[in-house]
Amino acid sequence: MSSLAVLHASQLITLAGPPRARFGKELGDLGIIPDGGLVVADGKITHVGKTPEIEKLCQHDTEVVNARGCVVLPGFVDAHTHLVFAGSRLEDFESRARGETYEQVAKRGGGIQTTVQATRAATEDDLFALAKKRASWFLQNGTTTIEAKSGYGLTLKDELKILRVIRRVGAETPLETVPTFLGAHAFPPEFRENHVEYISLIIDKMLPAIGHEKLAEYCDIFCEQNYFDVENSRRILTAAKQYGLKLRMHVDQLTNGGGAQLAAELEAITADHLEQTAADGITALAKTGVQPVLLPGSVYALGSKKYPDARRMIDTGLAVVLATDFNPGSSPSPSMPMMLSLAVTQMRMSPAEAITAATVNAAASLDRLDIIGSLEQGKLANFAIYDCHDYREVAYWFGVSLIRDVFVQGQKNPLNARS
Ligand code: NIG
Ligand code: FE
Repeated sequence: MSSLAVLHASQLITLAGPPRARFGKELGDLGIIPDGGLVVADGKITHVGKTPEIEKLCQHDTEVVNARGCVVLPGFVDAHTHLVFAGSRLEDFESRARGETYEQVAKRGGGIQTTVQATRAATEDDLFALAKKRASWFLQNGTTTIEAKSGYGLTLKDELKILRVIRRVGAETPLETVPTFLGAHAFPPEFRENHVEYISLIIDKMLPAIGHEKLAEYCDIFCEQNYFDVENSRRILTAAKQYGLKLRMHVDQLTNGGGAQLAAELEAITADHLEQTAADGITALAKTGVQPVLLPGSVYALGSKKYPDARRMIDTGLAVVLATDFNPGSSPSPSMPMMLSLAVTQMRMSPAEAITAATVNAAASLDRLDIIGSLEQGKLANFAIYDCHDYREVAYWFGVSLIRDVFVQGQKNPLNARS
């Protein structure tokens, strides 16, 4: 059996540790092996250690990758993306520069509705072609698994179309996808005056169809003023659980409306955004072990100053996750290194905390910690080699990619290999 070995990494960042999400001081422990290496066979990691030990395990036909002078990190796990959409939001982008807010854009029918119109008009093949290109962006930035939400269709047919594209990206590209149903992203124009009926459509038609076809693992909602209030969110998410869907929620992004408390009450797996959440909301999340998913890209790109209170969350013992929120409106970036930069400079996380939040903790939030999130024996050989000596540089240099090579299941730069 031929194998692959990586040798001489200045720092092999293993994230080895207990097989669960990390919290408190654990977030700062990256399990670094200086002059580290690893062996891969059949797409999985078989050994991790110091280079001299790893060298001894090499056979005559082992392919050796020299990572001298480089840092090796596990593939990033991006636990919050809106991968599949069509159309452009360049008008919103420019009008925000003129002073219009995200809410004002939405009120005049721009924002999410613009993307819904374009996504409805696109075929499944159109959407796949767009998503495939974006999959290459994620891989080029060191991300090997993403969660991906529907939510720009808002009819049964169009939500199913998006979820099928998410599945197809996972099957036909090297990027692993974890699907989430977000039919409750906004009220579509045809139901603007009849919210009750759209909620019935979600509960009576969309959830059963998605449950039946097993097209999603999670259900999400935009719990926010002028979108889905706490009461409606509770109804929809309670129904979603009955179809076996686990919960992730957009809460307290624009206003502090009790979303964090609802996430705790419903025992959601994650509560995402949390820019406006106060101390009581953070305490509520801690009580039921909900993982906060912090999305600094959306704060940055909307030109807001109010980042979530990451320090309080870490000090309260929450297993913080960091993600891009990749979407055309509030966070058009697939770059996890950019999120690391924002986490350190804007949220006062240490580089080590940010890396743990973007790997192990993200994998735990997606229930995949048995196969991804760290470089340990038995896990998939998903990792990236960075052209720098110290892991902190990945967060430090921004606007430049330090990535040399990305490996998915032991295959080097697999997207280039396939196309
Ligand atoms: O997470 N907040 C709701 N959803 C996205 C934005 C979607 C859009 O503007 O298209 C978010 O920020
Ligand atoms: Fe989002």
